Amino acid sequence: MKKILLGVTGSIAAYKTPDLVRLFRGLDIDVSVVMTEAAKRFVTPLSLEVTSENPVYSDFFDIPLLHIDITNDIDAFLIAPATANTISKCSCGLLDNLLSASFMTSKCPRLIAPAMNHRMYEDSIFNDRLNYLKEKGVIEIPPQHGSLACGEVGIGKMAALDTIVNAALKAMRPAHLKGRKVLISAGPTREPIDPARFISNRSSGKMGYALAKEAYLRGADVTLISGHTCLSPISGIRHISVQTAAQMKQAVLENCAVDILIMAAAVADYKPKNYSQQKVSKSDSFTLKLIKNDDIIEAVTSGKKCPFVVGFSAQTGNRIDIAREKLLKKSMDMIVFNDITMDGAGFDCDTNVITIIDKDNEYSYPLMKKEDAAFKIIEKIIEKIIEKIIEKI
Ligand SMILES: Cc1cc2nc3c(=O)[nH]c(=O)nc-3n(C[C@H](O)[C@H](O)[C@H](O)COP(=O)(O)O)c2cc1C
Repeated sequence: MKKILLGVTGSIAAYKTPDLVRLFRGLDIDVSVVMTEAAKRFVTPLSLEVTSENPVYSDFFDIPLLHIDITNDIDAFLIAPATANTISKCSCGLLDNLLSASFMTSKCPRLIAPAMNHRMYEDSIFNDRLNYLKEKGVIEIPPQHGSLACGEVGIGKMAALDTIVNAALKAMRPAHLKGRKVLISAGPTREPIDPARFISNRSSGKMGYALAKEAYLRGADVTLISGHTCLSPISGIRHISVQTAAQMKQAVLENCAVDILIMAAAVADYKPKNYSQQKVSKSDSFTLKLIKNDDIIEAVTSGKKCPFVVGFSAQTGNRIDIAREKLLKKSMDMIVFNDITMDGAGFDCDTNVITIIDKDNEYSYPLMKKEDAAFKIIEKIIEKIIEKIIEKI
């Protein structure tokens, strides 16, 4: 289990920290909290103790050497909210409270989420202090522009909680994909029949979004091309929205100068031959003639436009043979097979049962959350890319 030390300082935004702790706990991350005296004026230690299920620390002299012990086995130290005072203190190496002293003893990734009035945030003295910390490797989770607690409008509002969580998760993952560009497609396409109707499929986009987030957490520069879904864009990832298979093809071809392409989208195989400009009126029967859509993966691999291509194969039944045939026919490097008739697998659910197939091997996994399946897929891609690099040496 990953461990975070959360430093809470004296900003109004401290009232959000019990929710922040709960988000981490929901991801099975252990959270310990260290607070400044000022922070206790904005949020009670009790709320943080209850939500973190751990003791909350604040007194330097309560337990001798606590400032060293509490950072011994943590995976990240996050200060959120981080006041101008604490940021300046950490930047100067002033250790007059437990939080700033622990900040200096921690040797894991260190993150700060500033929260303050915009005039403080933009002040040049403060900026020198902040930039000095950044030069030393401290990760800033920049504040947002917006309406501030003081009633003024400007930059200084603490970053959204999900942005803070993602930044912390990213800091704790090995950045194996740092410097690599990854293009991922997700969700269904919609093939219009008339202005009111379309044909589509049951894809929710959850698998593709989970892959995009995992690649981002591993340090990649990620672009996500998404068909219509109910999912929110992921901060830190470039989003391109499309509707039809033709639009998805165009977006993929325009953006496929990347290191890795993962086609997780459920692209419609067929589209209506004729689009009716007028809504088709109700009658006793209606015949829809469909024609084949272009194959996007073949368009990429035939042009040798991307060095590592991963596809998906959703089948009814244990048809790994079809997935393997697809892998070879379309010259992909890897394909992820799932049997959509299995409980908890495939479309429109939070879990999946996957088999990762490459030219030589098959790796089957039990039912797991799509986030965990994404972790396995990205791990396997990294492994194969490293193998490819070694082969070339
Ligand atoms: C109502 C109120 C709100 C404050 N909000 C902030 C804030 O959002 N950001 C900030 O940097 N300081 C803020 N301050 C000032 C800090 O609380 C003050 O600098 C304090 O010494 C910070 O101590 P700490 O960094 O040890 O927590 C606020 C003060 C008050 C009275």
